[in-house]
Amino acid sequence: MQQVNLSQDIYYLGVNDRRTHLFENLWPIPYGISYNSYLIVDEKVTLIDTVERAFIDDYFDSIDRILGDRQVDYLVINHMEPDHSGALNAIVRRYPGITLVGNKKTFGIAENYYHSPVNTLVVKDDFVLDLGRHKLQFQTIPMVHWPETMVTYEETNKIVFSGDAFGSFGTLDGGIFDDEVNLNFYEEESMRYFTNIVGKYCPHTQRALKKLASLDIKMIAATHGPIWRSNLNWILSRYNKWSSYDLDCGAVVVYGSMYGNTRKMAETIARQLAVRGIKNIRVYDASKTHPSYIINDIFKYKAFIVGSAAYNNEMFPSVEALLAKIEHMAPKNHLLGIFGNCSWSGGGVKNLKNFAEKIKWDLVAAPVEEKGNLKVTTQDELIRLADDMADRLLE
Ligand code: FEO
Repeated sequence: MQQVNLSQDIYYLGVNDRRTHLFENLWPIPYGISYNSYLIVDEKVTLIDTVERAFIDDYFDSIDRILGDRQVDYLVINHMEPDHSGALNAIVRRYPGITLVGNKKTFGIAENYYHSPVNTLVVKDDFVLDLGRHKLQFQTIPMVHWPETMVTYEETNKIVFSGDAFGSFGTLDGGIFDDEVNLNFYEEESMRYFTNIVGKYCPHTQRALKKLASLDIKMIAATHGPIWRSNLNWILSRYNKWSSYDLDCGAVVVYGSMYGNTRKMAETIARQLAVRGIKNIRVYDASKTHPSYIINDIFKYKAFIVGSAAYNNEMFPSVEALLAKIEHMAPKNHLLGIFGNCSWSGGGVKNLKNFAEKIKWDLVAAPVEEKGNLKVTTQDELIRLADDMADRLLE
């Protein structure tokens, strides 16, 4: 690829991954993902983060085209997750005099993943590293996404190299900067990246946003997705909304159903919500739609209504798996409704009630449980559940 400059001496060194199906072997990435690294050429040559190890050859080719025989003096490690530190060992072997720059938590993790780093520079908040014409300042943003995560602020051009923060799923298909792409494409993929990967750490993200607000920022260069130079508020405002659980009026209705009876219950609820004027309603079959997408919508909408058929006296397995992920993420501020279906002794609704106790969302109505096919009296109960939920959403 042609050289891409963020400024005269600062280069984009990213790669596109269109082969991996599941990021972290968990989250679907049908549109791929980019791993973004950056190079600053000054009196001291500095790399900011690296790339996933499968791309090391392409990565070194890009570095060589810019540097020729020059050595790299520093590698700044904003984040140790291997999608960014994957080339660390190879870089240390290639540039034996290199100094690794990180905070005190960085090198503990580096030691666990790789061999003990030799030349290290441990930085704290506000530490300034002078490269010549460029000066780098560091700020830790713990748990966005790991405990060691930090950002690097380049003072001359006012660029924040932000690690995972403000990143996105989706490859960079020609356009690298936010003003070179159609942001509609990244609307869903940047949110899904946030909710799936960083969503557990919303309070930490809020703290990070407040910390970064003190910097004069002209560009945000994350480790995934577009570089933000023209629409900074596009991504900053979204991160603020998502991480503060600022939810829209709407409902996610999820069901696990073997023979369609629990599905009919979900359809009844959804229809009544629509009758009551709720326009944002997403109904999902938990056995078909990956939790990545359902969790993303849970971060959008205030109401979550979940139904489960009983299965071996337990919840339906696909619902159980989804709820385990939700409990793990623990998003806040939701209204909850539950329903289910059984053939003899139950297990669906009973365990949904356990979920309700653990997640501590606001259960707006009594659970509704049917045996087998949906009868008129139970349909009326479901309509009442939907009415109670609509009342709360429209308050
Ligand atoms: Fe993109 Fe937390 O690694």
